[in-house]
Amino acid sequence: MYKILEKIALNKDIDYLVVEAPLVASHAKAGHFILFRIDEMGERIPLTIVGTKGDGVELIVQKVGYTTCKLGEMKVGDFLEDFVGPLGNQIEIHPEYKRVLGIAGGVGAAPLLPQLRSYHEVGVKVDLVIGAKNKELMILLDEFREICDHVYITTDDGSLGEKGFVSDILDDVLDKEDYDHAIVIGPLIMMKHVSKMLLDQGIDTAVSLNPIMIDGTGMCGNCRVLIGDQTYFACIDGPDFPAKGIDFDLLMARQGYYDEEEHTCKIGRGYDEK
Ligand SMILES: Cc1cc2nc3c(=O)[nH]c(=O)nc-3n(C[C@H](O)[C@H](O)[C@H](O)COP(=O)(O)OP(=O)(O)OC[C@H]3O[C@@H](n4cnc5c(N)ncnc54)[C@H](O)[C@@H]3O)c2cc1C
Ligand code: FES
Repeated sequence: MYKILEKIALNKDIDYLVVEAPLVASHAKAGHFILFRIDEMGERIPLTIVGTKGDGVELIVQKVGYTTCKLGEMKVGDFLEDFVGPLGNQIEIHPEYKRVLGIAGGVGAAPLLPQLRSYHEVGVKVDLVIGAKNKELMILLDEFREICDHVYITTDDGSLGEKGFVSDILDDVLDKEDYDHAIVIGPLIMMKHVSKMLLDQGIDTAVSLNPIMIDGTGMCGNCRVLIGDQTYFACIDGPDFPAKGIDFDLLMARQGYYDEEEHTCKIGRGYDEK
């Protein structure tokens, strides 16, 4: 059993949690994720390891459906049934790079933070373009400002930073500095368009993929990703991949694959849909 040590609401949709898991914490690196189950009957839910705090693993969770909302109702001192990790691969850090650009959309800021932090720690300069629906849903700005030279902000409604999407200001950002590498993490549609813009400019670009996962160990095949003509499993080959050649359209089609079942499942469990 894994105890919730800390829990803070970052806004109405997103919580920060620290879960006691000493073995996971002592092996965690940027790029890793965990799978947890709330109870014996629970779904296995993947979440990125955002950081560690002593024996605790830091998580940032957007409440989107049954399990993440149930986790949102849990309190400090409550226990999770399972907490498995670190899973996936740590990202490869290139200390020879001069400057790296991170681009985050929504809760994609959570997996991006440890990656940019790792570059910052080896002396690579990092900048950030971050977008959210509105000011209230913008997360981790203070943490990013500690490690980034420049933080460029957009919101869909203009309540903070420039009005619009991250892609609207990207060309201006790219005019200001030269980047050796970019990391894009956010909704699939955003990663598709933004990584195309970056690749068209000749910038080596990586993305972090979050397909539906079941076992997280390469057994079920649910997290398939097509890159060129090769199939990869995000859980064991990723979740971070070079953006070039990823079939984002297939990923988007697969993301909604279980929506009907999720809906029926929520009704069956008396889930109060928001
Ligand atoms: C490697 C990885 C890292 C992730 N890191 C984070 C993170 O740091 N913070 C965060 O808030 N979210 C993260 N996610 C997404 C998170 O796992 C899903 O939001 C969660 O599984 C939804 O579960 P639910 O029961 O609350 O929602 P459901 O009711 O199951 O579904 C709500 C929506 O989420 C999608 N979904 C359902 N199950 C999964 C799944 N296992 N993986 C991906 N999408 C799913 C469904 O298609 C549906 O659109 C990550 C996913 C992966 C694969
Ligand atoms: S989650 Fe089953 S193969 Fe990746």
